[in-house]
Amino acid sequence: MNFDQKLERKHTNSIKWDGHKIFNANPEALPLWVADMDFKSDEHIVSALSQLAEFGVYGYSFEPDSYFEAVMGWMQRRHNWTIERNWIFSTPGVVSAVNACILALSNEGDGVLIQEPVYHPFKNSIKYNKRIPVINPLKLAGTHYSIDFSDFEQKIMNEKVKLFILCSPHNPVGRVWTQDELTRMLDICEKHQVIVVSDEIHMDFVYEPNHHSVAVSLNEGYKDFVITLVAPSKSFNLATFKLSQLITSNEHFMEKIKHEYERLGLHGQNQFSIVASEMAYTHGDAYMDALVETLMTNIEWVKAFVATELPQIKVMDIEGTYLMWMDFRALNMSQKNLVDFLMNQAKLWLNDGSMFGEGGEGFMRVNVATKLDTLKQAFDQLKAAINNY
Ligand SMILES: Cc1ncc(COP(=O)(O)O)c(C=O)c1O
Repeated sequence: MNFDQKLERKHTNSIKWDGHKIFNANPEALPLWVADMDFKSDEHIVSALSQLAEFGVYGYSFEPDSYFEAVMGWMQRRHNWTIERNWIFSTPGVVSAVNACILALSNEGDGVLIQEPVYHPFKNSIKYNKRIPVINPLKLAGTHYSIDFSDFEQKIMNEKVKLFILCSPHNPVGRVWTQDELTRMLDICEKHQVIVVSDEIHMDFVYEPNHHSVAVSLNEGYKDFVITLVAPSKSFNLATFKLSQLITSNEHFMEKIKHEYERLGLHGQNQFSIVASEMAYTHGDAYMDALVETLMTNIEWVKAFVATELPQIKVMDIEGTYLMWMDFRALNMSQKNLVDFLMNQAKLWLNDGSMFGEGGEGFMRVNVATKLDTLKQAFDQLKAAINNY
C-alpha cells in the first residue's frame, strides 16, 4: 500500500481533475472537491481487472456466487452484520438506488425526509420524482452537529412523510451516528410507518473511537422497513464502475424496487464492475485499514494547520468520511464571493457548502483523500490568499 505514490490524474477524463470546462471552474485551481480519491485502488483489484482485460472477450455477464459471498463476508467481518444472498440486489450506483426506492415505495406528492446539509442528489431525486422534500435541519453547536429529534417527529407527522433518506455516516458534516441516535430515529420512523432508505456508502471510513453501526442491524424489527445501500466505490475508489448493493430482507420492497429497474431495461452486469467489487470485498481488508490510517494523518494535519495558521476558519468535527466540512463565515463574504475567492484567489476547487441545502451557506466541503503534499500545497495557497485579503 503506497498512498504517497505520485499519481498524475490530469488528462485522464477525471471529473475531479479535468472537469473544469463542464463545471465552469478555474483550470488552475487545485481540485479537492468531488468525492473520489487520488489513490490507486487495491492491487488485488488492479491485477484481476488486468487479467479480465487481457482475456479480450466482453460478453453479457451476471454475478457469480463468489460475488455474493464477498459482499456477505465484508459485511460480516467489517460490520458485524449478517445478511443473506437473496437480500442483495446489485444496482448501478447508490443514487440510482435512492431514486428506485423513491419511485417504488412512495407516491407523487408524498413527503420524503432528509437532514440538511446533506449530499445534494437526495433532494434532486425527491424533486425529479415529484415527491416533496421535507427538511429536518441538523443542529450545530460549536463544531458538532446533532439531530433535532422533536423536529424530526413533528415533520414526519405534519408533512405526510412516507420515506426517510438517512445518510450514515453523514456527508458532508462528517458525523458517525451513534447507536442511540440511530435507534431514536428508527423508532420514530417505525412508530409512524415511515420507510427508511439508509445510505451507508461511507461506512468504511470511520475514525476511532467512533464506531459505525449498520442501522438495520440494531433491532430485529427494523428489517421490515429499512433498506440499506452500500458500495465498494468510495472505499476502493471504484466510482467509475457504477456498482453498488441494495440490501433488504423485505421481499415486497425488493420486488417493487427490481420492477423499477426492469421498467428502465436496466439489467445484467458489467463484468469489470463485478470483478472489482468481488476482489475489494474479498481481499480489501489490509488496503482499507491502511487507507483509514492515511486519511487520519491527513485529517490531523489539516486540523493542526488550520488551528495555528488559519484561525478565521473553523473545522467541524470529523468522525467519518474523507470530506472535511469547514466554516468560513468569519470571512464575512457572500457565498458567491466566497466560492469565487477560493476558486480564483486561493486557486482551490472545493464544494460550495450551499449546494448541500439548508445550513450550508458560509461552509465549504474539502476532500482530503489525496497526498499530504497536495494538501500542504492547498492550505499554503489558502493561507496566502486569506493573508492577502
Ligand atoms: C452519501 C453518498 N451517497 C451516494 C454517493 C454516490 O453514489 P454512486 O456514485 O454510487 O451513485 C455519494 C458520493 O459522494 C455519497 O457521498
